[in-house]
This record gives sequence, structure tokens and C-alpha cells, in this order.
Amino acid sequence: MQENIHPSKFKITQELRQQALGQNPALIWFTGLSGSGKSTLANATEQALHGQGYHTYLLDGDNVRTGLNRDLNFSKEDRVENIRRIAEVAHLMMDAGLIVLSAFISPFRSDREMIRELVGSGRFLEIHVDCPLKICEERDVKGLYQKARKGLIKDFTGIDSPYETPESPFRVIKTAEVPLDLAVHQLVEALDKKLKR
Ligand code: PPS
Repeated sequence: MQENIHPSKFKITQELRQQALGQNPALIWFTGLSGSGKSTLANATEQALHGQGYHTYLLDGDNVRTGLNRDLNFSKEDRVENIRRIAEVAHLMMDAGLIVLSAFISPFRSDREMIRELVGSGRFLEIHVDCPLKICEERDVKGLYQKARKGLIKDFTGIDSPYETPESPFRVIKTAEVPLDLAVHQLVEALDKKLKR
């Protein structure tokens, strides 16, 4: 089937689109346990970047899982497919010239490496949102850890499904130690150098 597919080359290229927007497209990939603060940090980072005039889009776990990926559950196979589709969508958005931010647990190192290869290693900015399981579980914002401990949810990350820590991320943010404002400030300072043309 694939052998009969011939992608077209268009006149308006990524280079032209990124010139028009005046920014270098990138994928800022927030990964971490449920309740580690991925969405909060990604949201605040997007706000700061938007405030500086960057053209951004934020892809977030619960939102994508109620739309594009609503057919997927949390088995290993479905998590791999979840991240594969998100990576392809993010790649298209980067082709459109955008700075894409994403907040997904993305627990498997091999999936994150697949994204790095797809979008290009210099364009993939992996942020480990690092918070001890014990604290995520104490926060239990959505009450999901309690359900997982009672066996009401299967394959819950950190409980009966693994989380593989990033080996050399662009940045590590320890959300239980660093206040949000400071974390965003440090992150945006580091990102700015990568994103400006
Ligand atoms: S993954 O692993 O990257 O495919 O997960 P993701 O798409 O980011 O979805 C994570 C959110 O789904 C809710 N949820 C679960 N998380 C982990 N394990 C299980 N079994 C599970 N079931 C539901 C949970 O609210 C996650 O949101 P966050 O924002 O991470 O807390």
C-alpha cells in the first residue's frame, strides 16, 4: 500500500512559513507522572511565550484523549499509538511554523526517542517534569491514584505501569521544589535562545 503513495512537494515550504512567522518551529515536550504538573507548567510556559509574541499551540493529554485519540486506552500498545499520533500532529504543526508544546505522560523512552528522530533532535526540547510519586499521589488532584490503589483503574503509571525517566532531557523541572513562576522564567530564558530566528 505504502509503495503506491507519493507525497507531493508544495511551493510554500516550511522555510517560507517560518520566515513569515519569524520563529524557529520546535516541539517542547513535557513528560512526567500523572499529577506532576505537566499541564500547569506547559500552560504557563505557553502563556509566557505567547506574551513574547511567539505563535504557539498546546497539545494536552486529557484533551487529545477526548478527541483524536478517544479510541485508545492505557495498555502499552495504545499508549505507543497515542504518542505516535500526537508526534505526527505536532510534526504537521511544526511544518506550519508553530512552536508546539505538549503535555503527555509519555512513559516510554523509546517513544520519546521516536519523536526526537521524527522532528529532528535540535527541534525536540524534552522537559522532564520531575515530581516524586509519593507527592503526586498525595496531591491526587483527579482522585485517580486512590482508584488505582483500590484496583479500580488498571495500568496506572507509577502504580502498575512503568514510567521511564528521561536520560538527557533539555531541562528537568522539579515541581515540588521550584515555584511555578521561577520555573517558567528559567525555562523561557533557555527556550528563547532556541526559538528566535
Ligand atoms: S500516555 O501514557 O502518555 O499515553 O498518557 P496521556 O495521554 O498523557 O494521558 C494521561 C491522563 O490520562 C488520565 N489517566 C491515566 N493516566 C495514567 N495511567 C492511567 N491508567 C490513566 N487513566 C486515566 C490521567 O488523568 C492523565 O492525566 P495527567 O494530566 O497526566 O494527570
